[in-house]
Amino acid sequence: MVETINSSQEAILLEEQYGAHNYHPLPVVLSKGDGVFLWDVEGKRYFDFLSAYSAVNQGHCHPRIIDALIGQAKELTLTSRAFHNDKLGIAEKYVCELFGYDKALFMNSGAEANETAIKLARKWGYTKKGIPTDQAVIVAARQNFHGRTTTIISASSDPSARAGFGPFMPGFEVVDYDNVAALEKALANPNVCALWIEPIQGEAGVYVPAEGYLKAAETLCHKNNVLLMMDEIQTGIARTGEMLASDHEGVRPDLLILGKALSGGVLPVSLVLADDEIMLVIKPGEHGSTFGGNPLAAVVCMEALQVVEDEKLAENAHRLGVVFRTRMTELMKKTTLITKVRGKGLLNAIVINDSPESDTAWNLCEELMRNGLLAKPTHGNIIRLAPPLVITEEQIHECCDIIEKCVLNATK
Ligand SMILES: Cc1ncc(COP(=O)(O)O)c(C=O)c1O
Repeated sequence: MVETINSSQEAILLEEQYGAHNYHPLPVVLSKGDGVFLWDVEGKRYFDFLSAYSAVNQGHCHPRIIDALIGQAKELTLTSRAFHNDKLGIAEKYVCELFGYDKALFMNSGAEANETAIKLARKWGYTKKGIPTDQAVIVAARQNFHGRTTTIISASSDPSARAGFGPFMPGFEVVDYDNVAALEKALANPNVCALWIEPIQGEAGVYVPAEGYLKAAETLCHKNNVLLMMDEIQTGIARTGEMLASDHEGVRPDLLILGKALSGGVLPVSLVLADDEIMLVIKPGEHGSTFGGNPLAAVVCMEALQVVEDEKLAENAHRLGVVFRTRMTELMKKTTLITKVRGKGLLNAIVINDSPESDTAWNLCEELMRNGLLAKPTHGNIIRLAPPLVITEEQIHECCDIIEKCVLNATK
C-alpha cells in the first residue's frame, strides 16, 4: 500500500531524507495538473510557467494523450526490440512523414537521443567521410546543454555540470555560440564529423542567436561535409512558434534530435531522425535500449504530435509569444530590476539586474509562487518563462499581471 502525503512540508522532508540531493526545487509540492494549471497538496492553484522544461507543451494531462496512454497500456506496454510490435512501425512512419526524414530511431530520455546522434555522427564520419579511426571530432557550442551523461558533459563548458566528474570523453571541440567565424575555422578540420548545436540555448538562459546564424551553420556544414546535428529537445514541438526552431530559418538538420514534448510529458520518449545515408550506418546489435520504441511510447508520441497539429499550438505559441514579450518589454520600462527580455514563441526569459550568484531571481520566483505562478531561475539571474502552449490570451495577460505585480513590489 502506498503511503499518502498530508502536507507539503511532509513531502519535502521525505525527499530531503530519502532522495539524492541532485536538484534544488522551489518549495512547492504538486499533486495535480490540468492544462496550464498545477495544484499543490494544499489545493492552491498555480500557472505553470516552466512546463517541465518544455515537456508539457500540450498542457498537463491532455485528455487525448491520457486516453491513448490508457488504451495502449491495457493492450501491450513493452516487448523489447528483440521482437516486433504492432505500433512502432506506424509511429516511425508518422514521425518520418511529419518531419521529412527517411528513418527514425526512438529512445527514451533526451540525453540518450543525443548519445545516439553522437554515435551516428561518429560512425558516419568513419564509414562515409573517411575520418581515420578514433579521430572523429564533434564541434559543440559554449554554454550548451545536451544532458547529463559522462560523454555529453565532456562537451559542456559549465563547471557545475563537469566538476568532479572527469575523466572526460575526447573528441569534442567547443566554440563560441552564435559566432560564424568560429564555425568557419572549426569545421574546416577534416576530422570533424558533426556540428552539434541547439537552435536556441534554453538551459543557458534562452540565448537566441542572431538571425542567419543557423542558416550559416547549415551552409558551412554542407561546404565542409559535416553533419548538422540539431538538438531540438527543448525548442522543438511548437515551443518557439514553429514545429521546429530550425524552421524559422528554413534549416534542415542532418540529424534531428527530439524529446520532451514528444510525449506531452506523459512518459519519456526521445527520437533521432535522419536519412538512410546516415541512419543505416548503425547495424543490428550496435545500439539500442530496452524501452526505446516501446508500443506505449509509440502510441503516446503519435497522439501528442497530433494534438500539437490539431490545436495549432505552433501558431498559438507564435501569437502569444509576441503578446508576452510586448508586456515584458513594457514592464522593463517601469523597473530597473529587469535588464533584458528575450525569446521566441513561448520560450522566453527575463534577465534580472543582479549577479548570477545573488538570490534576487530566486526570491522573485518564490514571490511569483506565492502569487500563483511557477517559474525557476536558470543560471542564477535569468528566469525562463515557458507556459504550456495551450495557454489563452486572457491567461497570458493574467500571468503578465502577476509577474508585473511581483517585479514592481520587489523593485520598491
Ligand atoms: C536542449 C536539451 N537537450 C537535452 C536535454 C536532456 O534531456 P533529458 O533530461 O530528457 O535527458 C535537455 C533537457 O533539459 C535539453 O534542454
